[in-house]
Amino acid sequence: MSFQNILVTKENSIATITINRPSKLNALNRATIDELHNAFTDADEDTNVRVIILTGSGEKAFVAGADISEFADFDIDEGAKLAKKGQELVFNFIENLLTPVIAAVNGFALGGGLELAMSCHFRIASDNARMGLPEVSLGVIPGYGGTQRLPQLIGKGKAMELIMTAGMISAEEALANGLVNHVTKLEDLLPLAQKIASKIMRNSPNAIGAAIKAVNANYKDGLNGYDAEIEAFGNCFGTNDFIEGTSAFLEKRKANF
Ligand code: COA
Repeated sequence: MSFQNILVTKENSIATITINRPSKLNALNRATIDELHNAFTDADEDTNVRVIILTGSGEKAFVAGADISEFADFDIDEGAKLAKKGQELVFNFIENLLTPVIAAVNGFALGGGLELAMSCHFRIASDNARMGLPEVSLGVIPGYGGTQRLPQLIGKGKAMELIMTAGMISAEEALANGLVNHVTKLEDLLPLAQKIASKIMRNSPNAIGAAIKAVNANYKDGLNGYDAEIEAFGNCFGTNDFIEGTSAFLEKRKANF
């Protein structure tokens, strides 16, 4: 699979997807959205891939937002289609993957960039990272799920303030607000993501996927998270991972998933 706007490497069961338009601070144009969909689909379907890391190329930006030059002349219908297509192909798609996705935020994560990081299952950041949803400064609102996911992650009041002021917060503030889980030096960012990935990979891929689904159920209309958990819990009992995990414990050895 060849891409123009992203780089993909697969090593030690980790797929690393790097958005690679550094001269445009990795802004998400249409082509990048399509390529991200294809790269995430491929990584998720590859049974050798146990964790996906998403990052941006260069030392300045994770993603500085949707590509403003592409939508500056859009009308109402085109605007709605832009948001719908992006949400379906990338943002909701990533959130619902059963392969864990870690965002390694290596600089500006603004607008669609922060929305992309928030679609990942969790986030870590380098200490130079700056995050915000500046859309209202452009006369629009976040359209890739930002109005929903930011309040989920940092609470409604803080999200309202960040969205209304179009401000940016530092990595440390993001850490204090629960938007990212860890902050580290830029050069340590990918090694930290890989270290966390290796901890994840010790565990049952099937159970991890089931846990992602159960956690996400709380945020979906018409689903009861507790019921979803009961069903997913029950299904685990029918898997080889469950047999291996419980047998390994009883035999006092490490499970081999
Ligand atoms: N869409 C399109 N191009 C973008 C972009 C975006 N969201 N963000 C940055 N770029 C481009 C700039 O136009 C510039 O391109 P050029 O060199 O061809 O003129 C290049 O990336 C570098 O950006 P620049 O603004 O010169 O860097 P800076 O260090 O002065 O400022 C930011 C960095 C992130 C503060 C600034 O680029 C910015 O505000 N970007 C837009 C953020 C935004 O509003 N995102 C939400 C979009 S919905």
